[in-house]
Amino acid sequence: MITDAQNNFILAVPKAELHLHIEGSFEPELLFKIAERNGISLKYKTVGKLRNAYQFNNLQEFLDIYYEGANVLLYEQDFYDLTLAYLEKCREQNVVHAEVFFDPQTHTQRGVSFETVVNGIQKALDKANKEWGITSCLIPNFLRHLSEDEAIKTFKEALQFRELFIGFGLDSSEKGNPPAKFERVFKMVHDEGFLSVAHAGEEGSAQNVWDSLHLLKVARIDHGVRSVDDELLLDELARIQVPLTVCPLSNLKLKVVQQMKELPLRTLLEKNILVTINSDDPAYFGGYVNENYKAITEAFDLTTDELRILAKNSFKASFMGETEKEKWIKRINEIE
Ligand code: HPA
Ligand code: ZN
Repeated sequence: MITDAQNNFILAVPKAELHLHIEGSFEPELLFKIAERNGISLKYKTVGKLRNAYQFNNLQEFLDIYYEGANVLLYEQDFYDLTLAYLEKCREQNVVHAEVFFDPQTHTQRGVSFETVVNGIQKALDKANKEWGITSCLIPNFLRHLSEDEAIKTFKEALQFRELFIGFGLDSSEKGNPPAKFERVFKMVHDEGFLSVAHAGEEGSAQNVWDSLHLLKVARIDHGVRSVDDELLLDELARIQVPLTVCPLSNLKLKVVQQMKELPLRTLLEKNILVTINSDDPAYFGGYVNENYKAITEAFDLTTDELRILAKNSFKASFMGETEKEKWIKRINEIE
């Protein structure tokens, strides 16, 4: 249980979300609705049965269901509806800035054009900015289970829409697909003036975090919780202040940790590492940003001042401009 004071603070504090796969925000109800209008029949026949299938022993079991869910997304309207539903959650939860991942290859491989995907997502982001003041940026991720040549092809295609993207990322199956596999494409990403991020140290080792820093030259590490296996790496993360976008409910659901208490959150905070709290794939893992904050508050009995640090970190670690960051940090400092 968490106290009313903790609960109220979590809701009241403005937050940024930096690790969110838009395809992972696909709630079963919306998935069924879109499948129906697109004439697609689903393996699970009811919303309840689909939700029941969301039990995973590892990352791969999740990815299999997640890619299957994404198959019903065909038209611009589908990507728009998916994205707008996520942004409505942001509005409810006081998430005022979102850096949204999407997996272009999951769609282009099925014959859905890059343009269809980005138009739908971007129109929803624009609407949320205009109507609710939510700011955002978009980060295509390369699928690491596919080849680097496929990633390069995707990157070249993405350049047609370059003004829509702040950077590029790397997701999917970490085991067997180390950072070194994508060194060339990440160099191309930087040569074209983009930032980069990569999933590392989720199921894979601390070495993948080192290699993402040194070989891929990322500006942020997604997950990165396995960094605690390596004292030197923790010192380095504290020194260079490359943020970790930690996703507590995801780590629990995918059995990266067996209990929330095992998450190395206190170690990361004590070491002064720029740790942030995010939802990853909220429709699949049992909660959006605020549910993640609540889960760690319960597990670690966090004070409002510790929650304040995490909320401020979410802006510090974001890709927004310095003036904007300062505005939000000042506002967070003023919350009782
Ligand atoms: N890890 C790797 N790939 C992913 C994830 C994740 O947590 N979510 C969606 N794709
Ligand atoms: Zn992720």
